Amino acid sequence: MTMTPERWAFLNSYAREVFGNQDEQMNGLMDRAVAAGLPRIAVSADVGQLLKILVSLTPGRLALELGTLAGYSGIWIAHGLAPDGKLITVEYEELHADFAESEFAQAGVGDKVEVIRGAALGVLPTLRERLGEQALDFVFIDAVKSEYVEYFAAVKPMIAVGGLLVADNVYGTGQGWIDEGYGTDEFNRLVAADPDFETTVTPMREGILITRRVR
Ligand SMILES: C[S@@+](CC[C@H](N)C(=O)[O-])C[C@H]1O[C@@H](n2cnc3c(N)ncnc32)[C@H](O)[C@@H]1O
Repeated sequence: MTMTPERWAFLNSYAREVFGNQDEQMNGLMDRAVAAGLPRIAVSADVGQLLKILVSLTPGRLALELGTLAGYSGIWIAHGLAPDGKLITVEYEELHADFAESEFAQAGVGDKVEVIRGAALGVLPTLRERLGEQALDFVFIDAVKSEYVEYFAAVKPMIAVGGLLVADNVYGTGQGWIDEGYGTDEFNRLVAADPDFETTVTPMREGILITRRVR
């Protein structure tokens, strides 16, 4: 049997249907976001579930997300945190940040989530000063794909030993794929070769890299 584009599309919607259980608010979130002028580029529900599970496998004290959009992935991450855990999420677009803050409040995680407005590469050095070394249990990278190498350099010292970093779109996006010369090939190889990390990839959606700091 061959893997065809049609079969791949079917398997992705099958994964969303079977593994992407979510409540009413999450069901309607991206439709509300699109109506408010945001693009429909959030992770899928099955990937959201993966994020929640991975966060909950860490101590879940402090998580960082780069690229908030409408708050969809952030809500999944927040649900995986420890009871007193916190998510800091960084977003460049004011419209997206405003919308996400309202959805975080509706999801009941408003008190656990801080939205920082600004460009990730500008915000990260300030965050490093504020949080110190090895403070993060979980990082989700999902902002500008061409900046992933710089994000990794900036967040690496902030990740606790045993902490996880997850990155979306590591096989590419609708704009281009690894085999076409686009995507995050340099980032993927950099993280995979880093002796301080154990790294793998899952082909869910557009490729999800998962890495754990081991020393
Ligand atoms: C793919 S979307 C994030 C999707 C979100 N993580 C989810 O799955 O629900 C990328 C987001 O990054 C934001 N963004 C773009 N440039 C950025 C930058 N330099 N720093 C931080 N965020 C940025 C975009 O405005 C957009 O909201």
